[in-house]
Amino acid sequence: MRIIIINGPNLNLLGKREPEIYGASSFEEYYHALKQKNNDVNLAYFQSNIEGELVDTIQQADEQFDGILLNAAAYTHTSIAIHDAIGAINTPVIEIHVSNIYKREEFRHKSIISSKCVGLIAGLGLKGYQLGIDYFKDR
Ligand code: DQA
Repeated sequence: MRIIIINGPNLNLLGKREPEIYGASSFEEYYHALKQKNNDVNLAYFQSNIEGELVDTIQQADEQFDGILLNAAAYTHTSIAIHDAIGAINTPVIEIHVSNIYKREEFRHKSIISSKCVGLIAGLGLKGYQLGIDYFKDR
């Protein structure tokens, strides 16, 4: 089972960025623990602040991975290009958000990418990534 986590803009600042919303752990710390807990999974991780790099990585992940956990961060609410990239590939994508986007500002209530994803996990903190892995494992 090969799974890639793709994180979008500002998620490189997890742990430092608004910790009351996003928690105190950096993604690298969490990812290290995730790899140890899921040693039966071939896990990869990519983060970029650049929309086109996220599109490239989604395209390249097709056929190379059995599942994608995508936290497109702010691009969730704006990116038709990411919506189209998900629609263009066969690998299933789960949309992840650390925070509950529906409890926050109204501009976060609309996700452009959900309609192309298998499902969506939001508001459960970093645990959402583990839940996404569990879903792909059981599928
Ligand atoms: C986020 C929610 C987005 O609205 C926001 O722009 C982010 C992170 C989350 O994980 O909760 O950067 O995707």
